Amino acid sequence: MKTIPLILIGCGGVGCHLLQHIVSCRSLHSTQGLCLRVVGVADSKSLVVVEDLLNKGLDDSFLLELCQVKRGGESLSKLSHFGECRVFVHPESQGKILEIASQLGKRTGLVLVDCSASSDTIAVLKQGVDMGCCVVMANKKPLTSTMEDFEKLFTHPRRIRHESTVGAGLPAIASVNRIISSGDPVHRIIGSLSGTLGYVMSEVEDGKPLSQVVRAAKSLGYTEPDPRDDLGGMDVARKALILARILGRQISLDNIQIESLYPKEMGPDVMTVEDFLGHGLLLLDKDIQERVEKAASNGNVLRYVCVIEGPRCEVGVQELPKNSPLGRLRGSDNVLEIYTRCYSDQPLVIQGAGAGNDTTAAGVLADIVDVQDLFP
Ligand SMILES: NC(=O)c1ccc[n+]([C@@H]2O[C@H](COP(=O)([O-])OP(=O)(O)OC[C@H]3O[C@@H](n4cnc5c(N)ncnc54)[C@H](OP(=O)(O)O)[C@@H]3O)[C@@H](O)[C@H]2O)c1
Ligand SMILES: *[C@@H]1O[C@H](CO)[C@@H](O)[C@H](O)[C@H]1NC(C)=O
Repeated sequence: MKTIPLILIGCGGVGCHLLQHIVSCRSLHSTQGLCLRVVGVADSKSLVVVEDLLNKGLDDSFLLELCQVKRGGESLSKLSHFGECRVFVHPESQGKILEIASQLGKRTGLVLVDCSASSDTIAVLKQGVDMGCCVVMANKKPLTSTMEDFEKLFTHPRRIRHESTVGAGLPAIASVNRIISSGDPVHRIIGSLSGTLGYVMSEVEDGKPLSQVVRAAKSLGYTEPDPRDDLGGMDVARKALILARILGRQISLDNIQIESLYPKEMGPDVMTVEDFLGHGLLLLDKDIQERVEKAASNGNVLRYVCVIEGPRCEVGVQELPKNSPLGRLRGSDNVLEIYTRCYSDQPLVIQGAGAGNDTTAAGVLADIVDVQDLFP
């Protein structure tokens, strides 16, 4: 039996789904000779750790109880009345994670699983790497800060996995890495990597006004609470940056040209969400409608994509052939077209749901299972 000890950093939507997957996969994993041992779980304020670090994990009923508490919007410190675990509160918790990493990293092995949405984890992950830990991330921030941080995290490339940072559970990173390993040169990657913007662009293609589409997307729960967080393109840019960096480009977010679907004058520091949704958006309808019509007259459609080609790395609206994988895209799926020497006329295409707690957590779980060979 192989045991993989892990600490989960961040237990929101994705982190809690991961814990549930771990519990429900117990018998599957044991038939594979595998046991995932959750030794600690952290949120933004606290860390709960099992008492007997070397021999035990937090038990399954505790992990499920923990998810209940988090779903109720409460802090992990609520769990302090449970036996067999200890609770540490911020700022003590980061130091405690490192203490465990130094204790277990080289001895039993340890995976630091980052399901937070914070930059505050970068320091811990980098030090964890030095202490022999594996790192699995759904969080894009550690891979999109400085090139120096990125390279540090990749000191031992086999110990790092981050499938869910691009296209959630879709095998996007794995596919690109396999292509790189085979020596097949990647000429171009073009992808629609935001479910929200994929939905928005295919709806405006049908002639609906942008304002109406964005409001509908918000009420369907497809957008962030402030839809400008999606419309600004920053999340897509982070994914593009991760793809570009694994292709070997030494670039940072500042080098990526990002087209925002709203102008600066309608930014969050100038206009409230209500004003933006109420009247700001209406002012954008005409321009996008004209662009849709112009594209249609060329037999094309508009898609909000990232393009990585040679030194070029940009994010924004592009006119694409209607009859291409991206052109045929409807709704909120992600689509990635990868052009290489082997896939030159017809690209390799990866398509499917690119968001959601469940699929994202599944991608994280597969990443954890994937590093098992590094454990004694
Ligand atoms: N949801 C998706 O569909 C999806 C898809 C692909 C990738 N992702 C990525 O997956 C990550 C998690 O997403 P999510 O939707 O689960 O986010 P979320 O619900 O906002 O959860 C974030 C969690 O991280 C915790 N956290 C924040 N700062 C922390 C810190 N410094 N140390 C430890 N924990 C910290 C939060 O603590 P509190 O509970 O105390 O606030 C919360 O538990 C994000 O990076 C996101 O971009 C998500
Ligand atoms: C993800 O999980 C969070 C927290 O449990 C929940 O608020 C959110 O609605 C979930 N998202 C989806 C798309 O199910």
